[in-house]
Amino acid sequence: MRFAPSSEPRTLAPLGRRTAQVTANRDLGAYRLVSAHDASGPRDPRPGQFYMLAAEDRWGGEDGRPFVPRAFSFARVREDGTLDFLLEAVGPGTRRLAELEPGEGLWLSGPLGIGFSAAPEGARPLLVGGGIGTAPLVCVQDELGEEAEVLIGFRSSAHAAAAALFAGAPLIATDDGSVGRRGLVTELLRGAMDRTERAAVFACGPAPMLEAVRALCAERDVPAQLALESGMACGYGACFGCVVPTRGGYVRLCVDGPVLDAADLESALVPGAGH
Ligand SMILES: Cc1cc2nc3c(=O)[nH]c(=O)nc-3n(C[C@H](O)[C@H](O)[C@H](O)COP(=O)(O)OP(=O)(O)OC[C@H]3O[C@@H](n4cnc5c(N)ncnc54)[C@H](O)[C@@H]3O)c2cc1C
Ligand code: FES
Repeated sequence: MRFAPSSEPRTLAPLGRRTAQVTANRDLGAYRLVSAHDASGPRDPRPGQFYMLAAEDRWGGEDGRPFVPRAFSFARVREDGTLDFLLEAVGPGTRRLAELEPGEGLWLSGPLGIGFSAAPEGARPLLVGGGIGTAPLVCVQDELGEEAEVLIGFRSSAHAAAAALFAGAPLIATDDGSVGRRGLVTELLRGAMDRTERAAVFACGPAPMLEAVRALCAERDVPAQLALESGMACGYGACFGCVVPTRGGYVRLCVDGPVLDAADLESALVPGAGH
């Protein structure tokens, strides 16, 4: 079990960035699944931790200015240290990473942040993902196996191709009804909660989805952990670009999250989150 015990909430990253070698880059409908062999990195990143990624070559704009690295949850880690990242190309950085070819170098630092913790004893884990936010739930399912129920929502059948990363038969909702049920993943969550005596929710997805999950869990007194996003420039606490408000004050999402306890949030609609 790689969930963090409360005395040791994170796997520490080695100092500085290192180069991993890209081993595969495959099409997964609307997404890419990029695999890279991280020979010298820790073999036990915790589900929900993330890495800062940059291509070794051609990492910058046409004016020659380099980009800052971009944050990515790992979807899966293999015994030999290979990491899988699920990418959605939404801008220049993700477009370059989506083009990486086997043999190219991938600069990375990580694992960073604090990921998911184990569910309370006796509670059934419900994994709730939306779109690219399904990525960190793949490794949560790898940890929990059949104990967990997977509920995932996508815009279309092209995006729902990411469901293939999960074992078993996840419940799927799509906006257009092309795969699974037409509607929102929170409707699947409501149904799962109705038939589960004691649940614990692990969620990642766009901010409006996370807010709906937070509100539903608060209404039913169900514990929930939410993996949030905010703009990250450094990933290790130095730039304060990633701060989000919680009931206890502002936190830096890269060191105090990205997974936060839903009970600590007034709202998951934090400025800068989601895309
Ligand atoms: C902890 C964490 C884990 C993430 N995991 C994944 C993942 O597994 N797979 C994946 O595809 N993406 C993930 N992201 C989002 C990814 O970092 C951004 O999509 C990426 O930085 C965008 O860079 P870009 O240069 O392609 O686009 P940009 O030009 O920087 O941005 C394109 C669009 O995305 C928005 N955006 C940019 N960065 C972020 C951000 N960090 N959060 C929210 N919106 C943003 C911008 O407002 C803009 O609308 C994660 C982000 C965080 C913070
Ligand atoms: S990303 Fe720099 S402080 Fe969090």
